[in-house]
Amino acid sequence: MSQTNDVSPQTLAALAAAQLSKTYSPYSHYPVGAALQTASGKIYTGINIENAAYPVTICAERVAIFKAVSEGEKEFAAIAVATENGGTPCGSCRQVMAEFGTDTKVYITNKNAEIIQETTVADLLPGAFLPEKLEG
Ligand code: THU
Repeated sequence: MSQTNDVSPQTLAALAAAQLSKTYSPYSHYPVGAALQTASGKIYTGINIENAAYPVTICAERVAIFKAVSEGEKEFAAIAVATENGGTPCGSCRQVMAEFGTDTKVYITNKNAEIIQETTVADLLPGAFLPEKLEG
């Protein structure tokens, strides 16, 4: 599901923090919430979803991005990522973000929806392997 809104960074952070109560994280007990804003203004949320076979776990950021891509959205303005203690996106999520654009803003948020770091995908993943490398 998505909703269409032109939201502020603070609202995106609040949406990400609101996901913390919905995560499926019985093994790590480390909830992560995400809220992704597309260039067209839609919002897709994500949570981390763990599995008894630990490596099958998927991060909140990728859930949000894959939800969006599965609905035909591939241009992203911003993503807010919320954790209890201001954790930053993992390398796999940074690579998935980079696939869809390195200018996307990233708001690192805590459980109180305070934005504690504002950055970009380009800054989070310098030297990313990008789709252009596979062209021609
Ligand atoms: N996790 C995320 O959801 N996003 C990240 O970028 C880092 C890690 C999740 C995966 C796992 O459920 C828990 O946090 C602990 O690693």
